[in-house]
Amino acid sequence: MSIRIIGTGSYTPDRILRNSDLEKMVDTTDEWITSRTGIKERHIADKDTPTSELAKQAALRAIEMAGIQPEQLDLISIATATPDTIFPSTACVLQRKIGAVNAACYDLVAACTGLIYSLEVAYSLLKAFPRKYRYALVLGADKLSSIVNWEDRSTCVLFGDGASAVVLYNNMENDQPDFVVESKIGAAGIYADLLSMPAGGSAKPASHETVDQHLHCIQMSGKELFKLAVAGLVDSCKEVLTVSGISAEEIAWVIPHQANMRIISAAAQRLDIPVERVYVNIEKYGNTSAASIGICLDELCRGGKLKKDDCVLITAFGGGLTWGAMLIRW
Ligand code: UT7
Repeated sequence: MSIRIIGTGSYTPDRILRNSDLEKMVDTTDEWITSRTGIKERHIADKDTPTSELAKQAALRAIEMAGIQPEQLDLISIATATPDTIFPSTACVLQRKIGAVNAACYDLVAACTGLIYSLEVAYSLLKAFPRKYRYALVLGADKLSSIVNWEDRSTCVLFGDGASAVVLYNNMENDQPDFVVESKIGAAGIYADLLSMPAGGSAKPASHETVDQHLHCIQMSGKELFKLAVAGLVDSCKEVLTVSGISAEEIAWVIPHQANMRIISAAAQRLDIPVERVYVNIEKYGNTSAASIGICLDELCRGGKLKKDDCVLITAFGGGLTWGAMLIRW
């Protein structure tokens, strides 16, 4: 039995919002955004394009690369903090859109760490129940533009929309090692208020007041998060490397969640990983939350930059707080 990634896909909307555009919307500058975050532009979906539509485009690309039909999927696991609706799940909406009629479907919320959580859960299901689950579609998809307060310069410059997908396959006739070499996911609910969308759930149902107070938008304590983010990335990566017995020199690529170039640089430095082996595309997309790592992975894969058996370390940090690292064998 061998569980491997057999397809990747990603999608970002066509419309690009540049730093120069944001200069006309809020009191900010291209210089501030670039120097503090590394972001130059981000892709923004149309108002009437939901997360499931972004996910659909990424899913179809991953399924095509995998060379399978949607009916063969046994599972759809979507990580998203911006579902189309609270229910039905975005995974069920996607199932209908792509015709994956045989798949069990669920959404999972772990904010920016979503894809790693989603991979961990789907991989565990394939491993535990090989006769029930052979093909899984695992996605990270977010339309953060739908929950950004476009008058708040401290958050609106950071985020973009996008989706990414991988197809996992459990090959019962193969005894190659699985794609997961080692992984670690964690959470600290004690810091939940540092990054949240306070209203719209059962704690604060939508009302005129919640809308007036922008409580359906992202609220973030950036400075506090910054320090916790570096620690979360570094500690989870170190644990995965120690347990797996694989050294930093053996890693072909590190793919960190793309939240802030300064967080990425600080984490890479503490892990002693040279910048040439850290994949970064934050300048093009900003922070796409659950989608970010998968967009990087897809770019590496389609760019021919991954060789068989390369070790790829993916790591993320986000609202919850949540964090995680997964060492992948390509
Ligand atoms: O996705 C995972 C979760 N998210 C994160 O991990 C994000 C972590 N945090 C960060 O990336 C950074 O903290 C930010 C990019 C959000 C902010 O950078 P910072 O260097 O921590 O800036 P700051 O919040 O300390 O603000 C510095 C100054 C403030 O002005 P004063 O008080 O010094 O006069 C802000 O009001 O920059 C001001 N500022 C801005 N100025 C121009 C904040 N946003 C902007 C802006 N343009 N867009």
